[in-house]
Amino acid sequence: MTSTRRDFLKKATLSGAGIVGAGMMSCSRASGSDPFPQKQGQTFNMSGYAAPGLDVVRIGIVGLGNRGTGTVRRLASIEGVEIRALCDLEPDRVQRSADLIEHLGHKPDFYSGDEDAWKRMCEKPDLDLIAIATPWHLHTPQCVYAMENDKHAYVELPAATTMEECWELVETSERTRKHCVQMSGSCAGGLSATILNMVRQGFFGDVIHGEGCYIHTLTGFYLFDKDMYHNMWRLNENIGRSGNLYPQHGMVPIMQMMDIGYGDKLDYCCSISSDDFDLGPTAERLAAEDDYWKQYVGRDYRGNMNVTVFKTVKGRTIVMQHDVSTSRPRGRSMLSGTRAFYETGPARLSTTEQHTGWGSYRWLADEEFREVQEKYTPETNRRFAEFTRLAEQIDRGGHSYYRTSPVDWRLIDCLRNGLPVDMDVYEAATSSAVTPLSIYSAKNRAFVENIPDFTKGAWETNQRGLDLNFERGGGTTKLV
Ligand SMILES: NC(=O)c1ccc[n+]([C@@H]2O[C@H](COP(=O)([O-])OP(=O)(O)OC[C@H]3O[C@@H](n4cnc5c(N)ncnc54)[C@H](O)[C@@H]3O)[C@@H](O)[C@H]2O)c1
Repeated sequence: MTSTRRDFLKKATLSGAGIVGAGMMSCSRASGSDPFPQKQGQTFNMSGYAAPGLDVVRIGIVGLGNRGTGTVRRLASIEGVEIRALCDLEPDRVQRSADLIEHLGHKPDFYSGDEDAWKRMCEKPDLDLIAIATPWHLHTPQCVYAMENDKHAYVELPAATTMEECWELVETSERTRKHCVQMSGSCAGGLSATILNMVRQGFFGDVIHGEGCYIHTLTGFYLFDKDMYHNMWRLNENIGRSGNLYPQHGMVPIMQMMDIGYGDKLDYCCSISSDDFDLGPTAERLAAEDDYWKQYVGRDYRGNMNVTVFKTVKGRTIVMQHDVSTSRPRGRSMLSGTRAFYETGPARLSTTEQHTGWGSYRWLADEEFREVQEKYTPETNRRFAEFTRLAEQIDRGGHSYYRTSPVDWRLIDCLRNGLPVDMDVYEAATSSAVTPLSIYSAKNRAFVENIPDFTKGAWETNQRGLDLNFERGGGTTKLV
């Protein structure tokens, strides 16, 4: 090789390295500035941990608004539950909730009147579980305080809103050996439990891709309603941060179908948010007629739509969407594997045998789909349906309308039987971490984020959560 050619190649290589280097510089964070660094060294593994069984689960509930009132009724519908304490800022809400369950024999103590009344409730010694249905900013402080006071925490979505809070939940749960369980957004019951059972029994082959969302228009009738919820907390949550603010309903079922936390792990993600086209204009329109809304004009509202894309360590992909302000129909969820495809809204299923070529698929006919569902209905669904039927035969003054959810029922059943809970603190932290990750990534032009591993490596050997077929026991707690 001539020296001229060698010089040329050397220069080309260097400039190529320069180009690559410049490119990498522009899309990688400066050394040491990882916004969400991974922590090391698990204190104790809460995955698969079984707390000592409880004959009676004594519960205190905080936050008795729209959702919490239902929480009181749902939990009071389970055998072996005693509602021993109720808490809300508003004394009349405490009284209202107590009245709703009096006929079932519950005589709760009342906690009310000041911002910290819930702390006194958590300190009450004769409670096992604190159920939390307050505004989002209170969730982590209340879970942490409950666990530190020797109570399990059962919390509405999202368990946490920042990465610091996610870690705080994990560390507190591991240190205290108290469970921290999210209250919904799971495959614990209904058709999603059947689909999860099918996934686990290989119906889908290898799971490749999942999509989920929370697309639910709240602008017109809800977010801007002064009387509909406490102190405008929902609207305020949509100011100053733009991302997926409520990922759990879509995310947790797909995490469960992909064994995230027990066999696979979320690796990295990136996120994009649209601008806001609704919240700001709505505030302006309302402010023209009512001075109250002037404080909401010109605020930094979240964008209408957020889309976040994930890759798992085992090579799967996930797309999550969040939109509460666009006037449009609700979104869909879907799951695709090497052998089958499922989507919601309306629910329908197709298998590779239904592939008719050139990308065309035949959906299973209603009758065929029903047969598949019947075959794969998990034992938990069957038992829950059986207990619901039994409870309906007991006339307790119209109580049946407020029957409990499968998530509530299984939590109480696991606690009473001394079994690991179906959803652990790592699931709560991982799904909640989507919020800070998406906010940061969307703010930084879809910057690719590493996703912290809250199990600190234990995901590789952890046993599956959500015991759909009572393989570990349980299923003995009835409904009342
Ligand atoms: N899983 C679901 O499908 C679902 C559905 C609806 C709501 N939620 C969740 O439920 C929670 C509550 O939502 P909501 O619609 O009932 O709101 P809400 O405003 O109607 O109720 C909140 C209640 O918390 C009380 N509260 C506020 N600060 C308090 C404090 N310091 N101490 C004690 N009580 C306090 C308020 O007085 C109010 O009664 C939220 O986290 C929401 O995301 C979940």
